[in-house]
Amino acid sequence: MKNGKFITLGIETSCDETAAAVVADGREILSNIINSQISIHTRFGGVVPEIASRRHLENINDVIQAAFDEADVSIEEIDLVGVTYGPGLVGALLIGVAAAKSIAFAADKPLVGVNHMHGHIAANYLEHHDLEPPFMSLVVSGGHTEIVNVPEYNSCEKIGGTRDDAAGEAFDKVARVIGLGYPGGPKVDKAAKEGDRDAIAFKRVWLEQGSYDFSFSGLKTQALNYLNSERQAGREIRVNDVAASFQEAIVEVISAKAVNAALEFGQDRIVMAGGVASNSRLRELISEKAAEHGIEVLRPSPLLCTDNGAMIAAAAYYAYRAGERSGYDLDAVPALEFN
Ligand code: KG4
Ligand code: ZN
Repeated sequence: MKNGKFITLGIETSCDETAAAVVADGREILSNIINSQISIHTRFGGVVPEIASRRHLENINDVIQAAFDEADVSIEEIDLVGVTYGPGLVGALLIGVAAAKSIAFAADKPLVGVNHMHGHIAANYLEHHDLEPPFMSLVVSGGHTEIVNVPEYNSCEKIGGTRDDAAGEAFDKVARVIGLGYPGGPKVDKAAKEGDRDAIAFKRVWLEQGSYDFSFSGLKTQALNYLNSERQAGREIRVNDVAASFQEAIVEVISAKAVNAALEFGQDRIVMAGGVASNSRLRELISEKAAEHGIEVLRPSPLLCTDNGAMIAAAAYYAYRAGERSGYDLDAVPALEFN
């Protein structure tokens, strides 16, 4: 405890960010240190798991120390250690889990393993201090595209998800194909601002009537086919138009399904989460569609949309309050399911 507040240390190493944060009462960020490896992985065109683990190992102690220092909190003052234990890259997850276990053991503090996706949703509690469940959540990241009903804290009911590529993965793949490089999402977002979203009629994949599932793998093939036929015809590729048209095909389907889900489950709020929630066109379109039905859309600021330790601390806090505890046998679960 510090100044009467419950202090949580949150640790996140599931992919290419080594992150640690100190959060008070599950809502107030005292520090949020993120050591991104993006510049290291860029030259390989994506995250190299072995390099990611090694970097996490090199950085984790400094990142945690920096989180304590910036928050001006000592190890004795923390009340809880929360750590991402899945889903993610196994070697990367293991570094965070080992660090969290060591601190919990050494300082004799409780430990809670956090589902990374629950963390993305909990990022909203740090930003919107009055937000409480129930709400509908749209989780769109590099590995996930999920519509989740959140009836109460620490409870998630997945009602739809991707059957193949995640939204962020689709952005990253198309960015590579049109030569924008890694990480693709922010680059496509930027290029699309200068492009015509009606230039190319990419097919929208709605799946069965009433389904909240997604399929984005066909879009990459459509983009590839389009580029090949344009090149064969000797026409110049307008990268901004491809980016804008492709982005529209993704965000139109995501926005419509999220709004339909909120309507069907009687929720008047959609809470966005994950890296792709930073996408400016998705933000704009979903807000427009939701407003037609009196639904409010919330999302964290871009810094809290990407992987960070504060969101893990927030999720750990609510899991702890709901009675969850992890033992020292906590292990990394790379394919951890949502629920
Ligand atoms: O949540 P996140 O940081 O990591 C995962 O847990 O996966 O999400 C990363 C993903 C990447 O695929 C990245 O390209 C995408 O989010 N992304 C975006 C934007 N910013 C990040 N996609 C579209 N538009 C953006 N502005
Ligand atoms: Zn993430």
